[in-house]
Amino acid sequence: MMNLREQIGIGLGREMQEAERTMLNQGLVVFITGAGQGIGRATAVTFAREGASAVIAADLNECKAKETAALVDAFPNASGFGLGLDVSNLPRFRAQ
Ligand SMILES: NC(=O)c1ccc[n+]([C@@H]2O[C@H](COP(=O)([O-])OP(=O)(O)OC[C@H]3O[C@@H](n4cnc5c(N)ncnc54)[C@H](O)[C@@H]3O)[C@@H](O)[C@H]2O)c1
Repeated sequence: MMNLREQIGIGLGREMQEAERTMLNQGLVVFITGAGQGIGRATAVTFAREGASAVIAADLNECKAKETAALVDAFPNASGFGLGLDVSNLPRFRAQ
C-alpha cells in the first residue's frame, strides 16, 4: 500500500524535485483553506513543488492541516504551517 507521500508524488529524487521548481510560484506565500485533504491538500503540495516559500494549510481538522504542512516541509524551498480553523466563521477567524 502506498503511503501519503507516494500517493501525491513526493517520492521523487532531489534532482527531479529541483527541476520541478518552476519559476512560476517562486517565493510565494500562500494560504489555502480546506487543505486537510483532497483538492486543498493537492493544491498545497503543488504550490510547494512549484517554488512557494511558505504554505499555510488551514482546515477544520487541525490534525490533517498539520499533516499537509508536514508534506509541504518535505520540499527544501517551502515551509508548511498547519492551522485549525473554520473559514465559515469569520468573527472567530479574526479573533484567532
Ligand atoms: N473532488 C472533486 O472532483 C470536485 C469537483 C468539483 C468541485 N469540488 C468541490 O471542491 C471542494 C473540495 O473538494 P474535495 O474533493 O477536496 O473535498 P474534501 O471533502 O476531500 O476536502 C474538503 C476539505 O475542506 C475542509 N473544510 C470543510 N469546511 C471547512 C471550513 N468551513 N473551514 C475550513 N475547512 C473546511 C474539510 O475538513 C476537508 O478537509 C468541495 O467544495 C467540492 O464540492 C470537488
